[in-house]
Amino acid sequence: MTDTVQIEIHQIEKSRIDAVDFDNLVFGRSFADHMLVVDYKDGAWQTPQIVPYGPISYTPAMMSLHYGQAIFEGMKAYKNAEGEILVFRPHDNWARLNKSAVRMCMPEIPEDIFMEGLSALLKLDSAWIPAKPGCSMYIRPFMFSTDEYVGVTPSKTYKFMIFNCPVGAYYSKPLRVKVETQYIRAAHGGVGFSKNAGNYGGSLYPTQLAAQEGYDQIIWTDAATHQYVEEAGTMNLLFVVDNKLVTAPTGDTILDGVTRKSVLQIARDWGMEVEERQLSVAELVEGIKAGKVQEAFGAGTAAVIAPISTIGFEGQDYELPERPADAFSKRVYEEINSIRLGVKEDSRGWVYKV
Ligand code: COI
Repeated sequence: MTDTVQIEIHQIEKSRIDAVDFDNLVFGRSFADHMLVVDYKDGAWQTPQIVPYGPISYTPAMMSLHYGQAIFEGMKAYKNAEGEILVFRPHDNWARLNKSAVRMCMPEIPEDIFMEGLSALLKLDSAWIPAKPGCSMYIRPFMFSTDEYVGVTPSKTYKFMIFNCPVGAYYSKPLRVKVETQYIRAAHGGVGFSKNAGNYGGSLYPTQLAAQEGYDQIIWTDAATHQYVEEAGTMNLLFVVDNKLVTAPTGDTILDGVTRKSVLQIARDWGMEVEERQLSVAELVEGIKAGKVQEAFGAGTAAVIAPISTIGFEGQDYELPERPADAFSKRVYEEINSIRLGVKEDSRGWVYKV
């Protein structure tokens, strides 16, 4: 893409990078020097600005604080052996952000502002992109309403921003997950497919209850019957059943995960049978008992591929088998990782070079 967007850049006086321990990065606690800020007013996106990362101030009546017009994305950037900056499938995240925007009555962000703003920001803070295996620069684009108004109506002003965090792993061990059959994440006609802040806010209480029982995450089930597996809230869920890859179909209740669809594409390219279909909790539990469910794992930008060790359902824990060296989830992680790092040829055109 040739640069078409004028961006105002105000550089930080002194970088904060020396204060960061790149050997012990935790997820989401360190923030690179700069952030992108683009205001929307009078029906148009204004000139993008890159400014030092820091607090933003708003009035107590800022609408997004009250009525939840707040959406976000997650992406990751890496450096290849030549030091070039690579971003994994950013156009997919741009497109999904705009789907969320439409559902939440927010303005869509033009592709050139998103991509050129992202590229300029990553170039400026390229020293912050970790080189250590298992680490990356987590990119957080987000948009929220900014009108000072207490009536329930779409705001007329918004902010689109991007900040970046050098990160280590989101999950550092195989997960214990609990099948949730009381609370719900999304219903048909709702906002489950959009990546809006409220979906995550609503997940906190049931996840906290599950944590008190010793689980790391919950498996959401469908709102109408609680019989079918949906997603885990921080990631999509996939299972290897009888050597086939099985996952819930995306629709209006499930996030169309970029990692999820990458895993499905790789599996198909490898000749594996893929079933995007409803998987009942009964089939899952019976399948684990019968040894038919060989692997269970989550897939997401932050989580990448997160193996599941245990599934809790109605007070009973069901253990997944140990993953062999050639487990699908291990191989697909390696494949995605080597593409993202530029080690393996990007035959599917997933990597964007900044
Ligand atoms: C992501 O995977 O990028 C997400 O937004 C999920 C969140 C758990 C960080």
